[in-house]
Amino acid sequence: MPAIVTALRSLRASQDEAVRLGAGSSSVLSVRGLSVQLGGREVLHDVSFELGAGELTGLIGSNGAGKTTLLRALLGLQAVSAGTVTLSGRRERAAVGYVPQKVGLDPDLPVRARDLVALGIDGQRLGVGLRSAARRERVEALLQSVGASHLADARVGALSGGEQQRVLIAHALASSPKLLLLDEPLANLDLRSTQETVTLLATLARSRGMAVLVATHDINPLLPFMGRVVYLAEGRAASGTTDEVVRSDVLSALYGHHVDVLHAHGRVIVSVSDQHHDGPGQGWGPEPRGEALVGGPGGQEAPGEQQAPEGCDLAPDDCTDDAPQAWQP
Ligand SMILES: Nc1ncnc2c1ncn2[C@@H]1O[C@H](COP(=O)(O)OP(=O)(O)OP(=O)(O)O)[C@@H](O)[C@H]1O
Ligand SMILES: [Mg+2]
Repeated sequence: MPAIVTALRSLRASQDEAVRLGAGSSSVLSVRGLSVQLGGREVLHDVSFELGAGELTGLIGSNGAGKTTLLRALLGLQAVSAGTVTLSGRRERAAVGYVPQKVGLDPDLPVRARDLVALGIDGQRLGVGLRSAARRERVEALLQSVGASHLADARVGALSGGEQQRVLIAHALASSPKLLLLDEPLANLDLRSTQETVTLLATLARSRGMAVLVATHDINPLLPFMGRVVYLAEGRAASGTTDEVVRSDVLSALYGHHVDVLHAHGRVIVSVSDQHHDGPGQGWGPEPRGEALVGGPGGQEAPGEQQAPEGCDLAPDDCTDDAPQAWQP
């Protein structure tokens, strides 16, 4: 079946309970009924969610859940079998910034951080580019916005993981996107770099009124800053606030297996059992078949959650047009 992405839909997501945004947040991206087939298998099925301006949203799922596939579909790099992707505002692709999952930068590559960021500027422009002085100023401003001015003349391949992540974010911001997609930007970062990167992303989302979607298998670091979550499992998605989604009943329905959501040591653990899901309220699954670690300080207990048993030591490790725009991924 050819890709079916046709209709522009007016952004009335607030009327759609399943994908509604928080109060006061306007929609930047609307995804409706997105399905993707790969190798004869439906990797994503009927995925729907909204991303709001100024919000950081976590795209959560274990390895192979379809996070990269979804991001590629949003970018138009992956054909879809059904669904619509609607981007409000600017019509050009530059409205979307992307930091991919795997960026192999050779340490000996003679490219400085400032060169990589400049490529982000020049690569988005047709015809006469910026004067060199203006380009230089813009590069400096971008590096400054991610706290990487001091890295401007360093070879990108020689930077640490956290430093490289900042420069890649500056590169992705060069087109002043309304939507920033990041695929596992926290992988291989230590705790401090992880916290700094998440804080930076939340700050950028707010200050630029940008929607930021962060793919990760561990949402712990995102929780203090995350407005909403898109949780992928078994090819399907649940979206909403963390308290709405990270619940035993919601995740059990998503996985089709019983899921326990535990609070322990200020964190939340999501444990998926082998037990087939027949409805909420079942007992503990005896043999976890996988765990996604979800949590944060002061996590609120939501209906369908359980407190971890006493002594539990499961501590886890330029807008030109405001009309909606749809494209065919
Ligand atoms: N070109 C392809 N052909 C067939 N199957 C594919 C292809 N690309 C990805 N897949 C499969 O689609 C599923 C989702 O892959 P994807 O890379 O989107 O997962 P992910 O959530 O990003 O995982 P990870 O956390 O490991 O990065 C996996 O089962 C993967 O094997
Ligand atoms: Mg991936």
